[in-house]
Amino acid sequence: MITKQFNNDINLIHLNHARLSPWPQCTREAVIHFSQTMQYATPEHAKQYYETEQQVRTKLAHLLHAPSADQIALLKNTSEALSIIATGLEWRTGDNIVLPLQEFPSNRIVWQALEKQGVHCIFVDLNCHDDPEKALMDACNINTRLLTVSAVQYSDGLRLDLARLGQFCQQHLLFCVDAAQQLGAYPIDVQAMQIDFLVSCGHKWLCGPEGMGILYIHESWLNRLQLQHYGWHMLKNIDFEQQTWQAATTAQRFECGSSNTLNNQILHSSLSLFETISFKAITQALTEHIDYLYAELQAAGFEIATPASSEQRAGIISFRVPEKDSSVLCEHFNQQGLICSQRGDNIRFSPHFYLTEEQLNAIVPRIKQILSH
Ligand SMILES: Cc1ncc(COP(=O)(O)O)c(C=O)c1O
Repeated sequence: MITKQFNNDINLIHLNHARLSPWPQCTREAVIHFSQTMQYATPEHAKQYYETEQQVRTKLAHLLHAPSADQIALLKNTSEALSIIATGLEWRTGDNIVLPLQEFPSNRIVWQALEKQGVHCIFVDLNCHDDPEKALMDACNINTRLLTVSAVQYSDGLRLDLARLGQFCQQHLLFCVDAAQQLGAYPIDVQAMQIDFLVSCGHKWLCGPEGMGILYIHESWLNRLQLQHYGWHMLKNIDFEQQTWQAATTAQRFECGSSNTLNNQILHSSLSLFETISFKAITQALTEHIDYLYAELQAAGFEIATPASSEQRAGIISFRVPEKDSSVLCEHFNQQGLICSQRGDNIRFSPHFYLTEEQLNAIVPRIKQILSH
């Protein structure tokens, strides 16, 4: 039983995968095993770590439906991946970038930092539009070089139609996607969605390590992004004695030094588990949980900020209880074993596929109990 890999405790219900996910048992065991091998750290172990690293790239390429694992770089975090893109592109004065006003800071600051090069950000307030994709497309003009969006908004959980945006960008603009709140919860196909750059992290819906970034680059951009960081690991032929060098032609050219072998192990283990369940089954279970929770929270009279249409939702439901301070309430929820976050004026619930029926059924009664005190 897959749910046995996770905590099924009715008194500690994890509704915070949009922030930091628990690790399944197999991953916790993989960490113990890794630490045991580190008692010896032989060249044979180092070879295994390298193979794991390659397998992680392959698994991620498969998950993203990328043509090749050579288009995947393993980095420190999502922010670093975004910085590699923003600083690697050649900008012209007067270029602009279109993005939602509600973006997570990492997918805003990096573009705002281009202001000094004469590059401007055009922000689109998604809350003011019934058709958020159209609003983003309408904001693009002749000087727009890049459209960047989170696949799922971190705060209210709005899921954008990436295929529609990718189709629009295809001819004239670059399309960059922050998939931190989607990867592992809902499918992404970088080819079908015509994505040029995709970034993500390990510690949310993939139930992997914090401090791990994932970067996918369309093959036409692999060798056109300017390099900003240099080191032995990024070379085409790794030879410590050689004075001349060439950067790798794969995405490894963006990984300048030693790989985070422990993180690779963690992500490898969680991805392997998810593959045995199938990502399709994960999405289906998560959708059912979210549909159920949405109906329950609505019936309880709470104000829900997340879209009503399941087409526009992923794994996040954000809501507030009328006349209650969300930050105070969020603290109470956590104390009472409903693990969640506060974002803006709302409380954000983000359950994952493995929640048991018993846990799911206990959520709203627990909230009511807390409110009655
Ligand atoms: C949309 C989005 N992107 C990125 C991140 C995390 O960025 P990083 O991996 O740089 O910590 C988060 C975390 O909350 C997020 O919600």
